[in-house]
Amino acid sequence: MHKILLKGGQPLQGSIPIGGAKNAVLPILAAGLLTDEPVTLDNVPDLADVHTMKALLETHGMTVERTGDRHHRLTLSTKAISNHTADYELVRKMRASVLVLGPLLAREGIAKVSLPGGCAIGQRPVDLHLKGLEEMGAEIVLERGYIHAEARDGLRGGQVALAMPSVGATENILMAATLAKGETVITNAAREPEIVDLAACLTSMGALIEGAGSATIRVQGVPTLHGAKHRVVADRIELGTYAIAAAITGGELKLIGGRSALINSLIEKLVEAGVMVTNDGEDLVIACKGGRPIGVDAMTQPYPGFPTDLQAQFMSLMCIADGAAMITESIFENRFMHVSELGRMGAKITVHGGSALVRGVERLHGAQVMATDLRASVSLILAGLAAEGETEIRRVYHLDRGYEKVDEKLRGCGAVIERVKE
Ligand code: EPZ
Repeated sequence: MHKILLKGGQPLQGSIPIGGAKNAVLPILAAGLLTDEPVTLDNVPDLADVHTMKALLETHGMTVERTGDRHHRLTLSTKAISNHTADYELVRKMRASVLVLGPLLAREGIAKVSLPGGCAIGQRPVDLHLKGLEEMGAEIVLERGYIHAEARDGLRGGQVALAMPSVGATENILMAATLAKGETVITNAAREPEIVDLAACLTSMGALIEGAGSATIRVQGVPTLHGAKHRVVADRIELGTYAIAAAITGGELKLIGGRSALINSLIEKLVEAGVMVTNDGEDLVIACKGGRPIGVDAMTQPYPGFPTDLQAQFMSLMCIADGAAMITESIFENRFMHVSELGRMGAKITVHGGSALVRGVERLHGAQVMATDLRASVSLILAGLAAEGETEIRRVYHLDRGYEKVDEKLRGCGAVIERVKE
């Protein structure tokens, strides 16, 4: 087990490269199951979740190799599916494992996938995934914690109206629809950039998809998909996290490869809070020269609204704001576990149901705190960067799921931060 030690008060100065998106590469890796030809991916982030997905896909017969001289290039090859069961031991480690369901069903007509179970931030049901696949002719039975899905005559195109714009459900149904017989129309689809990236990869594999990124996606099924090469889109949550790091420390950072269009909803809030945001070619420059940000309300919404995955990080920034901020979490039922840890650092936050009222303070102070989930853990780093004195963050394995070399990237911009064995 590792912990992070940091000493706050240094305005960050310099540049940080933004890696490939975790939440794009996970479904795209699963999409490799849809073809027996090689798929080469570039800009793949080196994350614990990517390793977990690789391990799961290898149990289905996929080979996943680091190829070329690039550390971030993978080549997937699934000549045949050797096993139709996604085992509980692997699925329980990462909910995104459920994304093998659609591809297995589409390619083989059968899949047995462990129910992912909940996690720290909520129950995380998959009912919308299953309803959509049933609409495409799958017979689904839940038994002893597993999803048993069959489509012996293959999936057929269906009209799938999602009760809510679920990212995972949209992805599972989109992947299944690429090999279904006929047209599938997904309405109330999720619109996240990661879905657009998945659709771009599937299209390069020969899928016929229209409307990815909008609320209605049309897919014409094809008999087979072929191999392809794809570069994973930049990670907008990593981008937003480091944008907030610049703001909270009163520094200036150039975020390399971070297209502002990916985080317009956050940028609007940062500008409202008095932070300077400028595009520099393909990069994004964030500056907050001295002075505290102004308190700004935020409510998480499906894309293009304010991302739930940046809620904890934005809350850290509002903890030192000049004024108050009401932060409402409308996507997950339990995503305020960072509040009590921020409170240990002197933050003034009161939670009523799905809303947290943050009253900004002049300075936070360092403390020993505990990471509880991926985005909460990075929000504690952000708070520690701005706090007076030393902060110690335990259970940082959560961080490794979604942030590549976060301590190195921050140290390179002047942060006093190190990662040590607990
Ligand atoms: C994806 O999770 C992301 N994960 C999450 O990022 C992100 O927070 C979430 O989308 C929302 O943007 C990946 O892409 C791997 P949802 P997902 O299905 O697909 C309810 C991170 O930190 N729901 O859009 O699981 C669900 O309970 C992670 O990187 C149902 O009720 O999110 C939740 O309240 C955390 N039934 C809401 O919808 C379903 O069948 C949004 O879930 C599916 C979802």
